[in-house]
Amino acid sequence: MSAHASTPARVTIPTLAQKKAAGEPIAMVTAYDYPGAQIAEAAGADVVLVGDSGAMTVLGYDSTVPVTVDEMLMLTRAVRRGLSNPMLVGDLPFGSYEASDGDAVRTAQRFVKEAGCDAVKIERGGATVARARAIVDAGIPVMGHVGLTPQSVNALGGYRSQGRTAEAALHVARDAAALQEAGCFALVFEAIPSEATAAIVPGLEIPVIGIGAGPAADGQVLVFHDLLGIYGGHAARFVKRYADLRTAMVEGVAAYVDDVRSGGYPAAEHSYAMEPGEAERLRDLLAE
Ligand code: KIV
Repeated sequence: MSAHASTPARVTIPTLAQKKAAGEPIAMVTAYDYPGAQIAEAAGADVVLVGDSGAMTVLGYDSTVPVTVDEMLMLTRAVRRGLSNPMLVGDLPFGSYEASDGDAVRTAQRFVKEAGCDAVKIERGGATVARARAIVDAGIPVMGHVGLTPQSVNALGGYRSQGRTAEAALHVARDAAALQEAGCFALVFEAIPSEATAAIVPGLEIPVIGIGAGPAADGQVLVFHDLLGIYGGHAARFVKRYADLRTAMVEGVAAYVDDVRSGGYPAAEHSYAMEPGEAERLRDLLAE
């Protein structure tokens, strides 16, 4: 595979802080398997998130809510095997960290010990702030996530953009500041009006990675299957499609199915041959 861009060295928390200070946008993308990780690395991504969006994009659930820790760990381990230099962030799934600091630390430790994560991500402000602090205190870097937090889709009443009024945006700003104060090294802002992001980001010291949060964020993240046009489900407004791989994949598999049915596959070049004379000997042996 030829690299379009290379990530020169292992990306760490100081790397991201330096990029923010220098005004260099941070490129983050999700991945859920070994080839996806290799592709993200070859493309030069700074950060690879094994998002719980994988619940929908690769596991076929209706939302991110049902995915389990064990399922996320399996996806994350596959990504780890395909990744060298980008920072690997594991997404703690719904129900695995909210109830207590102990749950939060134990789950985060599993993502580090069993899947080789460099950091973990958790959603929401409010009670999550204490969980973030507990995980940071246990020595594990935490990325926060505010705005539209899909794990709370039922409480939010759907996948709606957040912070559309001054008061609602102030709420996002307070959550962001609290997560920063709790020790988070970066934040995801999801589905937040561009003006709100532009107003909030200058007041934060840590990098903000946006998804549907406009250009004022310090970086951007998109879901691998959305940006490559692999996922067939509904695409949010903020998704930009950079390829239509689903169509290409369906065409490729359909051509194979047609070939099998018409006898066009396999041809001689896809088949193995016996040594000269062995086929005749075999027929004689079978006839005995
Ligand atoms: O699960 C995910 O992919 C995410 C990103 C959209 C930030 O949380």
